[in-house]
Order: sequence, then structure tokens, then C-alpha cells
Amino acid sequence: MPSQAGAEMSSPRNNYNSKAVNRLMCADWSAYSASYDLLSEHNPEYQALLQDFEAFLATIEAPQVIYDIGGGTGNYTEIAARAYPDSEIRFVEPDTNMNRSAQSKLAAYGNINYDNRALEDIDATGSADLVICVHALYAMPAPEQRLADLRRLLRPGGLLYLIDIGRYMNVPDWRSYLFSSLKKELGLVGALRVFWQGREIAKQNKSILKAQKKGVYWTHTEAEFASLVAQNGFEIMRQQSVYRDHSDLLVCRAIS
Ligand SMILES: C[S@@+](CC[C@H](N)C(=O)[O-])C[C@H]1O[C@@H](n2cnc3c(N)ncnc32)[C@H](O)[C@@H]1O
Repeated sequence: MPSQAGAEMSSPRNNYNSKAVNRLMCADWSAYSASYDLLSEHNPEYQALLQDFEAFLATIEAPQVIYDIGGGTGNYTEIAARAYPDSEIRFVEPDTNMNRSAQSKLAAYGNINYDNRALEDIDATGSADLVICVHALYAMPAPEQRLADLRRLLRPGGLLYLIDIGRYMNVPDWRSYLFSSLKKELGLVGALRVFWQGREIAKQNKSILKAQKKGVYWTHTEAEFASLVAQNGFEIMRQQSVYRDHSDLLVCRAIS
């Protein structure tokens, strides 16, 4: 199946030629941060991913060092911090408001260090036992190089829990899916209230779609994604299409 962004995306670079122009075409993560958890809490597909992550953690040896890259409001770090209170967690999130939301949510945990740099600015090598990167890679400049960065953070044998949106964000389809699941949960008035409170989300999702169509954000098929991950020094242990087939989940081991 070809990549939706066209043949040029089979060699995955996004068009980050002009930082100033591209900033206008990207999601505004700070604006997104205030309502991010509102719909996530009510989105069964988001909750299913969190449950998958928690179940995955129960199957591995306790990691000493964990990175959460593009950690957003800290939902994955929270699960890791609860499951492994003795691990050192490095939370990497360049957006100030997202990072702030995470810090306030995770204030009770003493094992988390907060870093407000982008992945490409982190120069650590080979120290991590586990790297988490969920729904963030597609939004980064030069995702192929960023995959190499994720590999560099891990020790040989370390694990990568990776989920990435690969297909175009179908905004009307997500809206109707979320509205009908909210209506079941909260009734019509409750659903309308959550939609109104979370209206920034629809706006940012439209920006994501626009950036995907311009090639500023990366889109990929499941096969393209797996192939690039394998080329960057990972053995794929599990691969699954998730998030209503918009995203790909890979559990990988860093090979030496
Ligand atoms: C959709 S959010 C996902 C947040 C979280 N992982 C989750 O699934 O709830 C994407 C996050 O990636 C972050 N991000 C964007 N570019 C990044 C980069 N170059 N390095 C690290 N994080 C980045 C954004 O700031 C944003 O918070």
C-alpha cells in the first residue's frame, strides 16, 4: 500500500526546509496541552493504548533507566512511574505547556527528571533500558534520523515501545467516533459539553492533517514504518496496526 503522502515519502523525510514557514503549518502543542487530557480520558482508543502499554510493562524486567520521548502531558510516564517506582525516568518534552502539565500531574513521583529539549538535542548514548515514544515521531523533523536517535539512547538489548500516527488524520471520522462514544458515556448534553470544552483539539487535529498533507509531518504505511525501524538497528518483536488503523505500534529490541 503506498504512503498517502505520495512516492516521495517512501524515503521518509519531511519537508523541514524553512523552520519559520513550517512552524505555521504544525500543531500548536501548547494550545493543545490544556484540553489534551480531556478527550484522551474519554477516547476509548487512547485508553486502549495506555492499557496495552501497562500490560507490556508487566512482561519485562524492571528497567533502570526509562526515557519517555515527546511525553506530552505525561500519561505514559505516569504508568511507568507507578509500575517501576525504583526506575529513573527521563521525561523529554520540548513544549513548555505540555511539560508543565506533566510536571503538575506527576508531582507525587520522585523518580522523574524533566527535560524540555527536543529529541534531536539530547546527546545521551546507550544508557536506556526502555524508550517510550508515542504519537510523537511523525511530528519531528527528519524522522529517520530521529529513529537513529532513539536507537542511540538504548543499550544493546534495550527495548523501544513505539507508536506513531502513519495515516492522514481523518478529522470528521474521529469527530463522529468520539461524539458517539461520549454520547453513550455521558448522554447528549454531556457529550456536547465535552466537545465544547475540547474544541481546541479539533482545531489542532486539523493542523496535524494540514501538516501531513504538506509533508511537514510524516505519514507511512505499516510496512514502510517497520522497514525503517529495522534499518535503524532494531529487531521488531511485535507489530500491530492500532488507533482505528491510523497508527502503528511496534515493540522492538535494540540490536548491537
Ligand atoms: C500528540 S503528543 C503525544 C504525547 C504523548 N506521547 C501521548 O501519547 O499522550 C506529541 C508530542 O510530541 C512532542 N514533540 C514534537 N516534536 C518533538 C521533538 N522533536 N522531540 C521531542 N518531542 C517532540 C510535542 O511537543 C507533543 O507534546
